[in-house]
Amino acid sequence: MDHAATEQEALSQIAAAQDLETLESLRVAFLGKQGSISGLLKTLGGMSPEERQSEGPKIHALREGVTNALADRKAALEHAALDARLAAETIDLSLPAPEAPRGSVHPIAQTMDELAEIFADMGFAVATGPEIEDDWHNFTALNMPESHPARAMHDTFYFPDRNAEGREMLLRTHTSPVQIRAMLQQGAPLRIIAPGRVYRSDSDATHTPMFHQIEGLVIDKGIHLGHLKWTLETFLKAFFERDDVVLRLRPSYFPFTEPSVEVDVGYSLVNGKRVIGGSEGWMEVLGSGMVNRKVIAAGGLDPDVYQGFAFGTGVDRLAMLKYGMDDLRAFFDGDVRWLSHYGFAPLDVPTLSGGVGTAA
Ligand code: PHE
Repeated sequence: MDHAATEQEALSQIAAAQDLETLESLRVAFLGKQGSISGLLKTLGGMSPEERQSEGPKIHALREGVTNALADRKAALEHAALDARLAAETIDLSLPAPEAPRGSVHPIAQTMDELAEIFADMGFAVATGPEIEDDWHNFTALNMPESHPARAMHDTFYFPDRNAEGREMLLRTHTSPVQIRAMLQQGAPLRIIAPGRVYRSDSDATHTPMFHQIEGLVIDKGIHLGHLKWTLETFLKAFFERDDVVLRLRPSYFPFTEPSVEVDVGYSLVNGKRVIGGSEGWMEVLGSGMVNRKVIAAGGLDPDVYQGFAFGTGVDRLAMLKYGMDDLRAFFDGDVRWLSHYGFAPLDVPTLSGGVGTAA
């Protein structure tokens, strides 16, 4: 039998196959159970040993040649199919896309990113704590024992049930409990900011039951009020992007700081609008002070060794002052007109070198 002619014929049919389906039917015709080459292999059983010795290798070589040709052709056809698909699926990226989603970054998210960027530059890490807090972290450890009048001033949302340790549970009324958590978890020295949501039962044009604060805490040896003032001044100048930001520190009272300092920032009137910078008038922006010894001790540190300063401020208020909104409630209404007006371009990531806040 002329195996060479059989192979030639098979190979030319394989080479001529234009699609995978034709190729598969050729494979079945040659190598399938009823296939011609499979038939040849079966004849080996009926041959004399001498015949088999001369025919066997030829038949096997034929099968191998055809098998390889099928595999090569298959790879070539698949490759061509992929090329054709890639060519067909090209998209013109320069085409305008009027239907593209027009989401924007909320001013609060933008402001928080700006704050994290500014404080990271001063060596602060971001710390977090739970919004569902217990009264020990939120009050007691911050030098507000159960009978303390400041507790009542916070308009706290309480949960009906206590936790496993018997502590009363609440929605945190400020980010200050993160001070305690950070000290207990990380020890000293410590340099953190803690931005996040806080809750108080209060609602009007300047108060919403949920709002945002950012806490700052520095604990180290030899920390004094000068460090606090420099840090706040540097932060506020970077945030408002003005060198003429003037601070006024006023003595105040917080249970968790001693002494306590309320910080006002000066504004000027431009066309009847308040603009940060100068000192025509004053606006309160921050609560702060040197961390109370009792708070340092509650954080598991020795107040004879470590000192620190802390500050807390409203993120929503900072955003309003910088970007000129006047009703806090609009922040949480989800009105697309407000969002597209005050929102920020999603790809506009704040950097200190590029300026922290470019509106969309
Ligand atoms: N936790 C205070 C508040 O919510 C702010 C504050 C933080 C004051 C840290 C002093 C130090 O009003």
